[in-house]
Amino acid sequence: MTQDELKRAVGQAAARYVAENAPEGSIIGVGTGSTANCFVDALAPNGYRYKGAVASSEATRKRLESHGIAVFDLNDVADLPLYVDGADEIDAGLNMIKGGGGALTREKIVAAVARKFICIADSSKVVGIMGRFPLPVEVIPMARAHVVRELAKLGGIALLREGFVTDNGNIILDIKGLAIVDPKGLEAQINQIAGVVTNGLFAIRPADLLLLGTGEGVKTIF
Ligand code: A5P
Repeated sequence: MTQDELKRAVGQAAARYVAENAPEGSIIGVGTGSTANCFVDALAPNGYRYKGAVASSEATRKRLESHGIAVFDLNDVADLPLYVDGADEIDAGLNMIKGGGGALTREKIVAAVARKFICIADSSKVVGIMGRFPLPVEVIPMARAHVVRELAKLGGIALLREGFVTDNGNIILDIKGLAIVDPKGLEAQINQIAGVVTNGLFAIRPADLLLLGTGEGVKTIF
């Protein structure tokens, strides 16, 4: 199977999972990226079962609305039973690097509200130790040089994502050269740097379940 076929398979598996596990009339948290797009497309035919969705990016909001799915402001939603999103890397503890699409901050906020985080990924995303995929960090523009210097002290080489502005009006630094042996510790440490909005490590709040697309079908991993 191609990577696109694996993404479609996990998107469909996630839509089935949501249909079986989300209470009828609930609001679903929806992530960002090509795998999350497959989930949105698979969710759409059953959209009538749900009251609507909360989107982790403007791109996802548009895609949901193009399918006729109502999109709610997170501030108006008291309960989010499930959040479904992709990852750039995921380890055995279901810690993730996210933010390849630059939506990490809104993704982290929606994940924080959700009771359960369902990660959808193809097998190329599974790693032993995270860090080969450059770690995205959302930064307030005036703090760029300071954050680059502070990240260098942690052993990271920060590259500005050229021509990219987040949905929140900020920049992204992609950090190379990190071997992430303590994901929770590093997530907290980077977030302490003045000017960092958040970083793409999802370890303090990892996924609760992984639907993994493999050549042998979709595996459910807790
Ligand atoms: C978006 O900001 C990211 O966190 C995505 O969830 C992640 O990059 C996975 O994207 P793909 O499904 O496109 O690989």
